[in-house]
Amino acid sequence: MSVASDCIIQCEPGVFTQNLNRLPYEFSHALAGNPLFELSRLVDLAEKVATRITPHLAGGDVYFNDGLIEPGQKPVRPDLARTAAVDLIRKIDSAQAWIILKHVEREPGYREVLENCIRDILQLSGPQLLRKIKWFEAILFITSPNRVTEYHLDREVSWILQLQGDKEIHLFDRADKEIVPDQELETYWTADNRAARYKPEYEARAIVYHMRPGTGVHIPINSPHWLRNKNNISVTLNVNFQFHDQHWANLYRANYYLRRAGIMPHPPGAHPVSDRLKSTAYTAMQMAKQAVKGRPLIPAEAREQNRRIAQLAGLR
Ligand SMILES: [Fe+2]
Repeated sequence: MSVASDCIIQCEPGVFTQNLNRLPYEFSHALAGNPLFELSRLVDLAEKVATRITPHLAGGDVYFNDGLIEPGQKPVRPDLARTAAVDLIRKIDSAQAWIILKHVEREPGYREVLENCIRDILQLSGPQLLRKIKWFEAILFITSPNRVTEYHLDREVSWILQLQGDKEIHLFDRADKEIVPDQELETYWTADNRAARYKPEYEARAIVYHMRPGTGVHIPINSPHWLRNKNNISVTLNVNFQFHDQHWANLYRANYYLRRAGIMPHPPGAHPVSDRLKSTAYTAMQMAKQAVKGRPLIPAEAREQNRRIAQLAGLR
């Protein structure tokens, strides 16, 4: 692995660029040991995130569940106040918990970490990437010893940076249609965030990375994965972004409705002309919905974030 020593994210540029949002890869980073991610600081951070008056997401910016599970199990959503996550972090060693703090970049110190990571990503991938990005986010995962994170899909292009403890991630190639059938993706993008179904018969096809502090893994969109923490507390930072372009997501959404109407849809990529028609129609429908609701396509906070990152990366 290579690149300048003042960077947080370090990776061989060819590997980084060629596999970006295509295939998983490993990289190294310089955040291990950063005091911002010590458990006592994370308790303070969780208090701020859990009590936000205007969270980014309607369900709040904290999520957690507890109890031991297997990769194919969906954890029960706890019926507890979001502030319970703060107590769970205090006793994380025995809580059997998995805690998510979302949008930590809204807090001082963590914003600089996210923006410096994105600066590095832009330096490695090329500045043209910035124009395609709608929104950047930093998420923290705090996990009890030996806890499994269930098999799932994510909507973002992610880089996960291991900060404390060892754990392993099992990733699957999204091009393998036995593992990731189109119908599953259609349901995921349209109706059910938990649509990904673990298929233990294909576990041998998983790409397994052993993560330790100072290492990281890139996760492309639509690449399912599950994780197993070792016998230690784990703290992981997820740096991610969403694209402006919803072309592929909208194809899955359009195909979801076509299938429900009894029509067998062409999978995305098989018929470019039909893809364009479906995606254009679906995108227009979504834009009309946004306009009726009076929501801007790009929130002011995202525009400001994009401006700061462009400045940091020397792009304006
Ligand atoms: Fe994930």
